[in-house]
Amino acid sequence: MPANDAMDKLVSLCKRRGYIFQSSEIYGGTGSVWDYGPLGVELKRNVKDLWWSAMVHQRDDVEGLDAAILMHPRVWEASGHVDGFTDPLVECGSCNRRFRADLDEVLAGQCPVCGAKDAFGEARSFNLMFKTFMGPVEEAASTIYLRPETAQGSYVNFLNIQGAARQKVPFGIAQIGKAFRNEITPGNFIFRTREFEQMEMQFFVEPGTDDEWFERWLEARLAWHQSLGIRPEKLRVHPHGPDELAHYAKKAVDIEYEYPFGWKEFEGVHNRTDFDLSRHQEYSGKRLEYIDPGTNQRFLPYVIETAVGVDRTMLVALVDAYREESIEGDERVVLALAPALAPIKAAVFPLVKKDGLPDVARALHDGLRSASIPSFFDLSGSIGRRYRRQDEAGTPWCITVDGQTLEDRSVTIRDRDTLEQVRVGLDHVRGWIRERLDG
Ligand code: GAP
Repeated sequence: MPANDAMDKLVSLCKRRGYIFQSSEIYGGTGSVWDYGPLGVELKRNVKDLWWSAMVHQRDDVEGLDAAILMHPRVWEASGHVDGFTDPLVECGSCNRRFRADLDEVLAGQCPVCGAKDAFGEARSFNLMFKTFMGPVEEAASTIYLRPETAQGSYVNFLNIQGAARQKVPFGIAQIGKAFRNEITPGNFIFRTREFEQMEMQFFVEPGTDDEWFERWLEARLAWHQSLGIRPEKLRVHPHGPDELAHYAKKAVDIEYEYPFGWKEFEGVHNRTDFDLSRHQEYSGKRLEYIDPGTNQRFLPYVIETAVGVDRTMLVALVDAYREESIEGDERVVLALAPALAPIKAAVFPLVKKDGLPDVARALHDGLRSASIPSFFDLSGSIGRRYRRQDEAGTPWCITVDGQTLEDRSVTIRDRDTLEQVRVGLDHVRGWIRERLDG
């Protein structure tokens, strides 16, 4: 399928089913900012919960943090963002639109919007941080930034967390939170947006052990992506060449995914050395060294960072799950999301609206919900239509209450992907689903 068609279909499904809407749509939309609807917000929570579970709850050596979005402005001087967090920008002399100078079309000398040839002015650096003012006075002294990454909150809290949690190096700090970048060329739906959420982990290690930890974390992150059901053949590792390395990195790789618009970054794994801690030590005047309790040696740890977007993970999950199939001449669109990611785990349908079937189905639905299994009750339309709606929503199991239920208290459970149907006793449905969610 051509890239544009594939993305258009996904965008339209996301709107139709309540995953993702354009921000402020009734006003014509806000450029590259998106709102998550009822199913989108559930998918987002599932992504974050699975990341938090793998990175914090299942480990003894990573602590959680939720640092504020607004930080002392000196943080961004120390981190290098005030001077260095820029993209090269050019303006088309014909249509006055601005683009990143490194876009393929721009490098080829043609304006991507009006098509004018060789009409670009000189490239200049454009800082991607959003600026605002703190307090009632709009002056340079009160300038403050919306953070462009969560990482800095972990560096400035390094000693707070190490001391409070009585951690020893090596250990990590994990955060999930909003970040903002005034991207010049956002796009591809939620791939590159101006407001997004990051899931970042900074792992502090003794210098000399950094290469080994880098490899360990890269492996752990690839395993996590596959645990979400992402097809392994759609993932690859791209090491950064010297011209791609960020100002803070000794080594960096992108875990890339093959989106409909090509292989692009999904997650970054970076060896940031002691760049950030040493800069914060210098700019704040506070010692940030770690004292090894065994040797009493003082040192600034190196940092291995894993950094992935929540929205980017959702895009990968949605793209990877989207299928169009023909079943015995019937077309269906299905989102084959891993059950752990699926916003609704089960949909409960009475086959017909009579003979007391709706009451039995409603009781089953309530029982699932009270067992914290997100469930959806639907009695409108033919059973085929109800299945199709849930296939598009990504619901793994549809449960039908029918005439036989009244005789032997069993229901059918239909699997979204294989379409197989099994009969399960009413009292075992919860356990049947829980086993598959936890297993
Ligand atoms: N702390 C390091 C850091 O921020 P990055 O590679 O700039 O590194 C990390 O960002 C991840 O955040 C990316 O791999 C991507 O998943 C996500 N991300 C970055 N910019 C984004 C944007 N404008 N929109 C959506 N996600 C973005």
